[in-house]
Amino acid sequence: MPTSVNRDALSGSVALVTGAASGIGRAIAMTFARSGASVALVDIDSGAGTEVQNAILSAGGKALFCQADVANRRDCVQAVSKTVATFGGLNILVNSAGIIRRATVLETTEEEWDKGMAVNVKSIYLLSSEAIPIMEQSGGGVILNIGSGWGLVGGTRAALYCASKGAVIQLTRAMALDHGQQNIRVNCICPGDTDTPMLESEASQLGLPGGSLQEDARERPLGRIGIPEDVAQAALFLAGDAASYITGTTLVVDGGGLAG
Ligand SMILES: NC(=O)c1ccc[n+]([C@@H]2O[C@H](COP(=O)([O-])OP(=O)(O)OC[C@H]3O[C@@H](n4cnc5c(N)ncnc54)[C@H](O)[C@@H]3O)[C@@H](O)[C@H]2O)c1
Repeated sequence: MPTSVNRDALSGSVALVTGAASGIGRAIAMTFARSGASVALVDIDSGAGTEVQNAILSAGGKALFCQADVANRRDCVQAVSKTVATFGGLNILVNSAGIIRRATVLETTEEEWDKGMAVNVKSIYLLSSEAIPIMEQSGGGVILNIGSGWGLVGGTRAALYCASKGAVIQLTRAMALDHGQQNIRVNCICPGDTDTPMLESEASQLGLPGGSLQEDARERPLGRIGIPEDVAQAALFLAGDAASYITGTTLVVDGGGLAG
């Protein structure tokens, strides 16, 4: 289990993390703040987002909550401009906000399809379009997209989700090619099952008892479900100087689930 944090690893950096009110985004935001970054917390959920902001501030870190729907261009423009106005720049963008619908194509409505693709994929385009020119001005930056193991292999009753996460991986590669010359590194983390509210939502959508997906994860090589901090440690590595020659890659963080 991850234990330590280098308190200077992101010192002086400004990070914007979407989905920062819960789960993986929350863990990334808190880890980045503990590592010295000023963190803009972007989420549609203002109650939980404000709690994360207060937790970081009480621990002596720097944080600002911005309520935004990441599928909405105006909200994304405002979130980036508020971040720059408050912290003086933007060096790291983490796209973690996401939603899941556990359904086949036959069970997925057109509205669900459009919303899932907008939250999981279009949001990366919207926020990156705002962030890249700012990163370019300051000599570079880092974009981390949270994909999924289901962007690499298929899963049952997850048609929209698999399509959206496959798109996240390809968008990551395309952006890495386009923006390497500006010293902007673009990478993707693909978590396996991770113990967050999203996993509980999946169990309930599938009519499974709570805790059953956590139990299934015991069959992974490392014998346990992932926790948000597992993904946050991978994000910290990819965001920092230790990963300065890594771009366009996909890092699987799944306890060995896809290894076999
Ligand atoms: N939990 C897992 O098992 C797992 C596995 C693989 C990949 N992922 C991916 O990790 C990312 C984070 O998932 P999580 O498990 O932390 O989920 P979560 O449900 O705990 O957190 C998702 C956050 O995104 C926010 N969000 C949703 N729609 C939004 C919108 N339109 N605008 C702004 N914010 C919005 C939610 O309010 C929530 O705070 C997602 O992209 C997810 O697909 C999760």
